[in-house]
Amino acid sequence: MKNFYLTTAIDYANGSPHLGHAYEKVLADVIARYKRLCGESVYFLTGLDEHGQKVQQSAKKAGVEPIAFCDEQAEKFISMCKLLDISNDDYIRTSQERHKKVVRQILQMLYDKGDIYKAEYKGFYSTRQEQFLQEKDRVDGKWPEIFGDVVEITESNYFFKIQQYQEWLVDYIKKNEDFIFPRFRAKQVMEFLKEPLNDLCISRPKERLEWGIELPFDSGYVTYVWFDALVNYISAIGYGTDEFSKNWPADFHVIGKDILVPPHSVYWPIMLHAAGIELPKSLLVHGWWMSSGEKMSKSLGNIVNPLDLVEKFGVDAFRYFLMREMNVGQDSDFSFDLFLTRYTSDLGNDLGNLLSRLLNMGKRYCASVVPSAKVEEEFEKQLIDLARETSQEVLRLYDGMQFHIGLEKTFAFIRAINRYAEQRAPWKLAKSEAEADKLALETTLANMAEALRVASVLIAPIMPNVSAKILTLLGLENIEKFEGNTEWSNVLEGKTLGAQEILFPRPTTE
Ligand code: ME8
Ligand code: MG
Repeated sequence: MKNFYLTTAIDYANGSPHLGHAYEKVLADVIARYKRLCGESVYFLTGLDEHGQKVQQSAKKAGVEPIAFCDEQAEKFISMCKLLDISNDDYIRTSQERHKKVVRQILQMLYDKGDIYKAEYKGFYSTRQEQFLQEKDRVDGKWPEIFGDVVEITESNYFFKIQQYQEWLVDYIKKNEDFIFPRFRAKQVMEFLKEPLNDLCISRPKERLEWGIELPFDSGYVTYVWFDALVNYISAIGYGTDEFSKNWPADFHVIGKDILVPPHSVYWPIMLHAAGIELPKSLLVHGWWMSSGEKMSKSLGNIVNPLDLVEKFGVDAFRYFLMREMNVGQDSDFSFDLFLTRYTSDLGNDLGNLLSRLLNMGKRYCASVVPSAKVEEEFEKQLIDLARETSQEVLRLYDGMQFHIGLEKTFAFIRAINRYAEQRAPWKLAKSEAEADKLALETTLANMAEALRVASVLIAPIMPNVSAKILTLLGLENIEKFEGNTEWSNVLEGKTLGAQEILFPRPTTE
């Protein structure tokens, strides 16, 4: 059976990992973990985009070979993935032979087919953006600042005939409503496709760019940006071998909105179609993390370093915040105050306190052994009903990528468990000698434990460590699957609770 195949964008090696990169990896990881918990076999790829002029320049500046520069960058990006507990199965670097081989193969195939031709090109070129500009890029007759130095150059290059596939693509996107998620993004693509496409320049002469993959049919050139980067999605999984069909077509390419149009929604489908390869099932397009209304980016210097937050608050708190705040597909403003509020109120007061209360009372009243639930009155009925509703709803929300609402519902349930404890007030019941109160006390502890267990299962894709920790403290092994585990049960009966533990310590003030 085919794996559920999930990819992220491959990050540009020419920069440091930031919140945007971290978010995308976490989002993809949450989906990967969710699918695994649903019993699917998942293949999850991420990686690094290493070629291009900027990397060449940075390496030169640092006085090292481009590959040495990239090795160093790869280490940073890979260690970010480790720190964030990203469960990727593979990490592709575009400087790897396995990748270069497939890029050359695809180029040769399209060249032989007559889809790639050489032509002379004269135009204005932005050295900063590494792209030819068009007259329409001028603002008030001038080249905007973002293009840096603009020079007029003439050069021969190779072009990929994409215009001939335009009609096919328009038709494909119209017919395949699930190709782009969220759907409103498809409009942008259709808008772009209203204008006739220009054939795509896919090469750079080596005098201008050396750090790239040489064209198989002309050693004077390397291939450029998208023709190189996009192919990672198939090179990593052994395109051209028997292995390939184990994963392809991809179920999701997780990408940011800035690389949807045209690379992922126009170039990539056309490249695949021209090469006779099936298209990915869906592009999952997320929004941007902003900082006071501006995109967080290296060039703006308004970057939040994810590593700092993880170090201080723990990886699961960080992952929780990202998934709780961002409505997948929309933008979201990063605010440290909001992070702190979520940390202290949702995680500390709601979840952390619930666990600590349970462990505490379990020790005092039941020698840390989970009793059995013996009564079912109104309070119990409400709690159990809410557990059932919440599990069903949350899984449905996760299926629709609505992780932020899924978490909202889960934490509303966690608050309801705390409320149940207050309604039943075990500390009062413990003072009574009556048999009915003893049963109510045991029932309360059993239900609190079971409700917390269900909540911990539901947060597992987002907070894998916290989830595993709580389950261990409840006397269970880590869960492998959702199946049977998101339902109300009595699996905890007779299990021994662990010792008191503070999951989310109050942050020290500096
Ligand atoms: O685009 N918020 O690399 P990249 C959310 N190498 N996501 C953000 C973001 C932000 N502030 N800033 C960047 C590239 N991203 C190419 C991709 S794929 C074949 C080649 C996202 O390092 C961005 O949208 O500039 C992209 O999906 C990813 O981070 C890598 O961006
Ligand atoms: Mg970018």
